[in-house]
Amino acid sequence: MSMDGLNVTACERCPELCESRSRIVNGVGPDDTALVFVGEAPGANEDEEGEPFVGRSGTVLDDALRDAGLSRADVRITNCVRCRPPENRDPTTEELSNCRGYLETELDRLDPELVVTLGKVPSEHLLGRSVAVTSEAGDVYDARIGDRSYRLLVSVHPAATLYDRSQAETFVDTVARAAELSGAGESGEGQSRLGEF
Ligand code: URA
Repeated sequence: MSMDGLNVTACERCPELCESRSRIVNGVGPDDTALVFVGEAPGANEDEEGEPFVGRSGTVLDDALRDAGLSRADVRITNCVRCRPPENRDPTTEELSNCRGYLETELDRLDPELVVTLGKVPSEHLLGRSVAVTSEAGDVYDARIGDRSYRLLVSVHPAATLYDRSQAETFVDTVARAAELSGAGESGEGQSRLGEF
């Protein structure tokens, strides 16, 4: 395992992903945050820019964070798998398991108040069971991840709001709940927001 701090610097465990990726996409955000969002895997935009959630899903996430009084700089955003799967297919069970140790190490070092799983793949991966995300969105569980227990909040994937408008409200409400439960951004953030009005 080749990690430098929270970053994976080299990895060749998944032959197909080594072919399809342009780079390893590590998590972004502070290493002392109370709130971590976990997505599935990088898409084309993320693979190009080297940062999670920078495409259309990222805009949806940024908007929901802003509505909740937060910004990207207040939270950490990472993925279950750090290399782009070909044709944006779901990561395989083997790929998820190959990358798991990196995510466990990242979470262990961050020790957040709350982990939010964005969509079915990360929710099932971290809860270790099948999850009906639309009906479980907003639910909080205790999840054993690596050597620790974390509070985990299930969310729909931000991309789901793009093809099903009814999920938009669910997503915004879940991110607001995440801000509240984690207390992220509470140090002076409210003050700076007052300046907007
Ligand atoms: N979708 C994800 O699950 N992760 C990303 O980084 C981008 C889109």
